[in-house]
Amino acid sequence: MKYPSRLQLANLPTPLTKLEKFKVEGSDVQLWVKRDELTGTEVSGNKIRKLEFTIAYALDEGCDTLITCGGIQSNHCRATAILGARLGLKVHLILRGEKPEHPEGNLLMDLLAGADISYLPPGKWRTHVDLARELQAQYLQSGAKAHFIPTGASDEIGLWGYIAASEELQEDFVALGMEPDYIVMATGSGGTQGGLLVGSKLFDLPGKVVAFNVCDDAKYFEDKIIEDVTLWKQRYKMEFDEGDLDIHTIEGYVGPGYGIADQEVFNTIAELAQSEGLFLDPVYTGKAFHGMVTEIQKGEKGQFSGASDIVFVHTGGLFGVFPQQENFRFG
Ligand SMILES: Cc1ncc(COP(=O)(O)O)c(C=O)c1O
Repeated sequence: MKYPSRLQLANLPTPLTKLEKFKVEGSDVQLWVKRDELTGTEVSGNKIRKLEFTIAYALDEGCDTLITCGGIQSNHCRATAILGARLGLKVHLILRGEKPEHPEGNLLMDLLAGADISYLPPGKWRTHVDLARELQAQYLQSGAKAHFIPTGASDEIGLWGYIAASEELQEDFVALGMEPDYIVMATGSGGTQGGLLVGSKLFDLPGKVVAFNVCDDAKYFEDKIIEDVTLWKQRYKMEFDEGDLDIHTIEGYVGPGYGIADQEVFNTIAELAQSEGLFLDPVYTGKAFHGMVTEIQKGEKGQFSGASDIVFVHTGGLFGVFPQQENFRFG
């Protein structure tokens, strides 16, 4: 595969490991985890894979500043802030929410990495792209050139991150002599799901790509992925039939809302930590993993009926555990 400009920022390849001790009650399904929470320490998770392409593009365009946006505990914003510090780029984040008195989790790391932050109250969030454009103009006036990265770096450039990850998965499957029935992940801005869907076609991966949405709904992700893939085809002159994409988003596991989880999700996080030493987060991976386990437990009536091997893509998010620590129950 001929990739566009790319920086080497992530620790790759990440391992694909079998869960030996965590078993889904009443099922023989073998679970595997693609350990993308190990792409780095501070910059762990899925975003760094996309940002390898996004930041390379920004540098090719002569930019010295990155502007991006997300929730107050955005993993993507934290990854951008830290990579900016590492590469000597200025980073300006637009975060949804009020400025907290005591920053914690990802926000604490954004500040430690020296990012400038504009807080936008949720009611004004619809204007965040306008604000980004205003900031770009202000930076230009002061002699800087800023690239605006959309939420989650999910666009036709960031899509390459999980296309490249699909090539890595192909190598993992060959090395381990395994053929999963499903490849499962959390979806929030659609770029990981979209990249894996395209990559699974390009690299002829075994296993259906299935996502659990943590916000919005299945229709939103279908539209978003088609849009990103259409722009990707145009920008990179790729031959690809987006009609071939079997976009499957399982609804029903958002819980009370984005960033708010039911007690069962916290219990699943604790169970996996205790049985495997593997840490999920309550915003993304915990909800998706919990959804996957619940669907497996439904047996023939569930979404994974007949499956023997399932790969869960661990997309990171560890720092999102700490701001929600009061939700864990011990003894
Ligand atoms: C930890 C984690 N997992 C999964 C996702 C979802 O990935 P995407 O935004 O590519 O849909 C995100 C970001 O939104 C994330 O931070």
